[in-house]
Amino acid sequence: MVKKNACVFISGYGSNLKSLIKRSRDTNFPININLVVCNNLKANGVNHAKKNSIPFFIINTKKRNFENFILNELRKHNISLICLAGYMKILSKNFIRKFGKKIINIHPSLLPKYKGLNTYERVLKNKETKTGCTVHFVNENLDSGKSIVQKFFFINKKDKEQNLKIKTHKLEQNAFSEAIIKIFRYY
Ligand code: GRF
Repeated sequence: MVKKNACVFISGYGSNLKSLIKRSRDTNFPININLVVCNNLKANGVNHAKKNSIPFFIINTKKRNFENFILNELRKHNISLICLAGYMKILSKNFIRKFGKKIINIHPSLLPKYKGLNTYERVLKNKETKTGCTVHFVNENLDSGKSIVQKFFFINKKDKEQNLKIKTHKLEQNAFSEAIIKIFRYY
């Protein structure tokens, strides 16, 4: 199998990056992680790139033209898939158009419910009975692209935000890799 080159964008802890790196070692997994982009100097996630000798850079999103810099690096590394894994910056329409290849995102809710931030808080406030995660294609509107994989669990009455987060993160790791397998098979 000829693997595609992928880039993971992160801003924080990097648990999804870690599990994608692990999965990508499997010869039957359709991608290699060839580049990591981070926009937070203090992000723990870059350590996963360092430990695994994956090229990475930290971008200052306050600088003009920062997206052009990223696009250039994506071209250099021949990237055909971007995985947004907790990247806390909205990609511009221009960036999405210029990249022109697949971009997917993982979101900690059952989209189209609870787009945006503070999902766990809002899920509990609305007394939802279930929640989960969604991997979806990225389009020009926030958390609105076509869903690829969705996984859910039932909420326990005693669950607080922290439990929801832990349970959601567990589901996310499988959801992300399933979605990647699916898009290279069916899209
Ligand atoms: C995940 O919950 C993901 O759904 C959201 O940001 C979080 C990133 O977690 N978009 P991590 O940095 O992969 O641990």
